[in-house]
Amino acid sequence: MNTTPEPDVDVPVIDMPLPPPGTMGPPEEYGRLRQECPLARIRLPIGATAWYATRYDDVKELVADPRLIRPSITDWPPRPGQAPGDEPGLITMMELEGPRHAALRRALSEPFSVRSIRSRLPRIRQSADHLLDPFVGGDQPGDLVVRFLEPFPVMVMCDLVGIPYEDSEYFLPKADAALGAILTLKEGREATSHLREYITSLLDRKRREPGDDMLTTLVRACEHGTLDHESAVSFGLSMLVAGYRTSTMFLADAVLTLLTLPGEYARLRDHRDLMPGAVEELLRYVPVMNGVVVLLAVEDIELHGRTIHAGDAVLPVLAAANRDGNVFTDGDRLDLCRADNPHLTFGRGTHNCIGAHLARAQMTVCLEALFDRLPDLRLAEGHQPIWEDDSPSKSPLTLPVSW
Ligand code: HEM
Repeated sequence: MNTTPEPDVDVPVIDMPLPPPGTMGPPEEYGRLRQECPLARIRLPIGATAWYATRYDDVKELVADPRLIRPSITDWPPRPGQAPGDEPGLITMMELEGPRHAALRRALSEPFSVRSIRSRLPRIRQSADHLLDPFVGGDQPGDLVVRFLEPFPVMVMCDLVGIPYEDSEYFLPKADAALGAILTLKEGREATSHLREYITSLLDRKRREPGDDMLTTLVRACEHGTLDHESAVSFGLSMLVAGYRTSTMFLADAVLTLLTLPGEYARLRDHRDLMPGAVEELLRYVPVMNGVVVLLAVEDIELHGRTIHAGDAVLPVLAAANRDGNVFTDGDRLDLCRADNPHLTFGRGTHNCIGAHLARAQMTVCLEALFDRLPDLRLAEGHQPIWEDDSPSKSPLTLPVSW
């Protein structure tokens, strides 16, 4: 591990821990950092520095601390050409605060509720079956990520939110462009402006042709004066850039985890009553949330004898908290029957994941559909998954399987 002193802060800076190449992780350093350096200072692959918290108790407090705000996902870390005080590029739901954020949460609480998601289960299952149909009786091996685990959450999100699935060919590349750090600021901003235009025109269409979907709910809230138009646009943008990606990664990593432990795959397939607890355990154990929640301090915060200064970035590492042995007995072991499981995968506080019930439903339906349709699913012999190793949050880009 490289350690270099940073001029303005009296704390050594380490490179951001990354999962070992060709794996989902977690990074090997979590255990040592939790024990010896619970508030570390790290340098991200793109050069910016941040505080890095790995203990359960700290992460739980920091992620809900009102002294920490969410920077726009296109504006931190700053990109070349970006000046402090520039207009933020992409405002999603996460950057809204105060009464506007509360109004949006209120408008969406019913459509994202357990009851509402439960009523959608047959349609979610239909999407899974539609994508799995070509596997049954099809050529083997096949790629489970590209043909199922990637399109499935996009299809479900589109149906629920009211975005035509066919349009994903248009918005997926633009969402990548808006988020992509390698593109110039100008290219990122152009992609963002196209996504804004797209969502605005979709909201107009819902006004003329209402549907049974979330955008229609938001249009009605705007008409009743309980929500402003910009907040509805922010929600639409959140869905275009983030309403499926985390789910895809979780599903791909969870399925790979189970296929790597064929006994556990068979146990869950044959004992479906274990499903609710098993889904919680997969959410805890699968280490995707390796530093994707980025916060900025608006005032000084003292922690473990160190000062997080106003303006500093802080990464509460949910995936590291989820393996903390002080809370989870034998935390590095997958235990599908784990009883007490207060994992932090969906965050906490006012910005906690509004899609948590949907994400649970997607994982449940995904596994049930695989068990029913491809009961002998296994990793394809002689074929390795492909990984993209630059990112701290990883899932296989391909998953060759036989069935
Ligand atoms: C396994 C899958 C998922 C995981 C692990 C996950 C995780 C998270 C986390 C940790 C946060 C809080 C971030 C913060 O504190 O800044 C969050 C927020 C959010 N998530 Fe999820 N998420 C998942 C799936 C989804 C899905 C399927 C949707 C919707 C279709 C969704 C929509 C949102 C939205 C809109 C927010 C922002 C909430 C707000 O700012 O009030 N998520 N998610």
